[in-house]
Amino acid sequence: MAIHKPVLLKEVIELLEPKSGENFIDCNYGQGGHSKAILEKIKPGGGLLGIDADLDIKNIKDIKDIILIKDNFVNLKAIYEHNFPYPISGILFDLGFSSDQLENSGRGFSFLTDEPLDMRYNPEGQRLTAKEILNKYGEKSLVRIFREFGEIGEKLARKMARATVVRRGRRLFEMTSDLLEVIGAKAVRHKKRIHPATQFFQALRIEVNKELDNLRQTLPQALEILKPGGRLAVISFHSLEDRIVKNYFRGWAREGRVELLTKKPLTTGEEELKSNPRARSAKLRAIKKIDSKECVKNF
Ligand SMILES: C[S@@+](CC[C@H](N)C(=O)[O-])C[C@H]1O[C@@H](n2cnc3c(N)ncnc32)[C@H](O)[C@@H]1O
Repeated sequence: MAIHKPVLLKEVIELLEPKSGENFIDCNYGQGGHSKAILEKIKPGGGLLGIDADLDIKNIKDIKDIILIKDNFVNLKAIYEHNFPYPISGILFDLGFSSDQLENSGRGFSFLTDEPLDMRYNPEGQRLTAKEILNKYGEKSLVRIFREFGEIGEKLARKMARATVVRRGRRLFEMTSDLLEVIGAKAVRHKKRIHPATQFFQALRIEVNKELDNLRQTLPQALEILKPGGRLAVISFHSLEDRIVKNYFRGWAREGRVELLTKKPLTTGEEELKSNPRARSAKLRAIKKIDSKECVKNF
């Protein structure tokens, strides 16, 4: 198993300020790096609910004192009500995938190894796979996904969608190498600075897991279940996610419902980047829910 180093751990703890006796929710438990650090601070008496769509709970040994639920955080409010109905002092999101999923899941998250084009976080609970998108979506839908979720220019998105349709007419997509073959040709022609595979893989992963929709739906639930004075922190890894988080947080701040704890997102320092290059694109934003008395004062 690849060890996933928790990103911006010190900053998360500083912003969430966990204290003994408090209850927290980690919506992206992963390998529990952030959860375990929070747990140390809320002991004794505190409780922690960890959620992850991709958990092999039977094989997780060190979860004493943590309630773990395998589910999608889009169901946050229901998960909370059924499993952990206590006043919540802090909620953390650390979006995307872990190093372990990237390197060992065998589900095609990485283009560095040849794996089936799957990309589902939870294969038992989700139906749509990356290969189904490539083999079945209409050309216009492919253009939209590549453009919107891969942040790829219209021209290249259209070329890639065409190449996808032509390729599947000859042979259906199965493995990551099939996709790389199509992207590789385009990458050379367009002389891109970064390997465009990164953006196409991102686009497919977002579509397979409905990542942006899920984030849009879960953030209001998180605000709702936080107790007044409670804190919400979100680590995102690309601008599409960060924009959603920023817009919600600023909107709520304008309405007087939250205080912004980060005016600008926090990013990783040089020291952390040396040991954890994956943290390069991480952005951390946090808010504090204003309690109803302060809220009345503000208006
Ligand atoms: C960056 S990792 C979290 C790492 C974790 N903070 C740690 O320190 O080990 C993101 C995790 O979120 C999970 N995930 C992604 N989208 C999810 C969703 N919509 N619902 C629940 N879990 C999700 C992934 O399966 C992955 O394990």
